[in-house]
Amino acid sequence: STDPLVVFTPSGKRGRFPKGTPVLTAARQLGVDLDSVCGGRGICSKCQITPSYGEFPKHGVTVREGALSEWNAVEQRYDDKRGLKPGRRLGCQATIQGDVVIDVPPESQVHRQVVRKAATARAIVMDPATRLYFVEVDEPDMHSPTGDLERLERALREQWQIDGVTADLTLLSKLQPTLRKGKWQVTVALYRDHAGGAARITEIWPGLHEGGLYGLAIDLGSTTIAAHLTDLDTGAVIASSGIMNPQIRFGEDLMSRVSYAMMNPGGDREMTAAVRDALNELTRAIAEEGAIDPALILETVFVCNPVMHHLLLGLDPVELGQAPFALATSDSVRLGALELGLDAMNPRARIYVLPCIAGHVGADAAAVALSEEPGKSEDLVLIVDVGTNAELLLGNKTRVLACSSPTGPAFEGAQISSGQRAAPGAIERVEIDPATKEPRFKVIGCDLWSTDPGFDAATATTGITGICGSGIIEAVAEMRIAGLVDASGLIGSAEQTGTPRSLPEGRTHSYLIHDASATGGPRITVTQGDIRAIQLAKSALYAGARLLMDEMGVDKVDRVVLAGAFGAHISTKHAMVLGMIPDAPLNKVTSAGNAAGTGARIALCNIASRTEIEKTVRQITKVETAIEPKFQEHFVAANAIPHKTDPFPELAR
Ligand code: FES
Repeated sequence: STDPLVVFTPSGKRGRFPKGTPVLTAARQLGVDLDSVCGGRGICSKCQITPSYGEFPKHGVTVREGALSEWNAVEQRYDDKRGLKPGRRLGCQATIQGDVVIDVPPESQVHRQVVRKAATARAIVMDPATRLYFVEVDEPDMHSPTGDLERLERALREQWQIDGVTADLTLLSKLQPTLRKGKWQVTVALYRDHAGGAARITEIWPGLHEGGLYGLAIDLGSTTIAAHLTDLDTGAVIASSGIMNPQIRFGEDLMSRVSYAMMNPGGDREMTAAVRDALNELTRAIAEEGAIDPALILETVFVCNPVMHHLLLGLDPVELGQAPFALATSDSVRLGALELGLDAMNPRARIYVLPCIAGHVGADAAAVALSEEPGKSEDLVLIVDVGTNAELLLGNKTRVLACSSPTGPAFEGAQISSGQRAAPGAIERVEIDPATKEPRFKVIGCDLWSTDPGFDAATATTGITGICGSGIIEAVAEMRIAGLVDASGLIGSAEQTGTPRSLPEGRTHSYLIHDASATGGPRITVTQGDIRAIQLAKSALYAGARLLMDEMGVDKVDRVVLAGAFGAHISTKHAMVLGMIPDAPLNKVTSAGNAAGTGARIALCNIASRTEIEKTVRQITKVETAIEPKFQEHFVAANAIPHKTDPFPELAR
């Protein structure tokens, strides 16, 4: 008689196995993704499966009662203690007795996919660099005197086919008490630099460790530091938290921090210490928020711009302040938490810093490339990550180019007369009626427009405090549409524009959006200086995009992706009215949210993605805006709204 046929779903993998073969063994032999931490001892419950009974014409199988062995004592014990969901079996205990169809539920898969919000977004496939293994270690005996570590190594080799593990001194000092406490059963966390590479023991627990394993994905920005605490088993983000970068006290923007390092001996070390302290504080806070022991954080991934990258690593950033903007290293960096003074997480936690693309285009842009994959795009995509510096990527399957552009902080509401960060109280949306020239607006923290009944009462609690980046962009674009501003960016007088909201201010004019000065509230205007600041920022952004398009030999792009928190908030139509981005069909201008943060999460959850981005970065062509004479030309031409010469046919539609 032939051996029973086993079909696994959803993979569809199938094979024949002798009666009595454990389901886990069959899964392993067929390469079915079925998890196990305890190695089939019936204690981790990671191997849960669900057999299906009945007719399966699709698979050509009829599954009868008794296709799997009877519920055994190990499963019974597990069920009594923890409870197994109805229909579930432990794959390491249930053995094959007849033809059977076996479903592997998502939570039993190692390489499960993490759901992302955007439907088009790249899926994150779980395959972290750190994994847990439960082992039974031989007790020492007088006749074969070997060390505890050597017997642990042997156990890993015999029970998991893992060879040549290493352990540092701090781990060794835990090894002996932990082995004895666990009665020679322990769980170890093994970390690898590369898929299939040598493993390092980064933690050890007595018995089966069920407390979880966590990682941090950190987007280290010049203004804010944002972290996602991620469960390395499921990929779920269990807490997100951010703090201000304390380096701000040494300089608002990157160049002023580089100057600080140049002017003050030891200034770079001061800034390094400040950011590391902040990271420790953030680690403690996020662990508390996620209600986990920070010692369970065994991996951290950083994405950051080149200056932050150097200051994090304790490298002097002076070379980044002058041509040719040489990085100390553009490669990815792998090191231990303590080497960076990050002592709030597990002291043996491993750190991965994504590679930088160039002296001006950092690991944050590399993370955007990892998340948005321009090099896999069929059509030509322009990806714009706007911050104090804008990073731009242009490319498709054949080639990817990158540059950065010094937009300055105007898009973040800085250098704007009534500007402020995006926070409750900030005007974030603006519309101006082209006929009456009257504005209406929305304030962060309030769902109503300013013209809606009840708006005053609703905002009375928060108040209106200023205008944020997205608000000022919409205001200027709406002013242009309503004819309050001409193509050169000049605000017309009350006579020219026909509205008393145009107020004289010295030799120029301002447009009044909101006036609560009578009741001691703010008076929010868009001044001529504000328009100039936005023009400078948008010209720099556009010039960067045009430079990449020149290099690519194209005069249009197929689609535009706005990355970053800012990109998620601005209206694409208004961005195009201003000429911030090149002309493209409006439905082809999308927001990717915090793509750099997503790239960090991908690198945290999937070891192969690290090798992938290291390779991708080497293939990206860097275009240096600072030394490219054409940049200045493009910059000047882009000063007009939307542009002096470039047509915007899509805008006319
Ligand atoms: Fe651990 Fe089955 S493999 S319970």
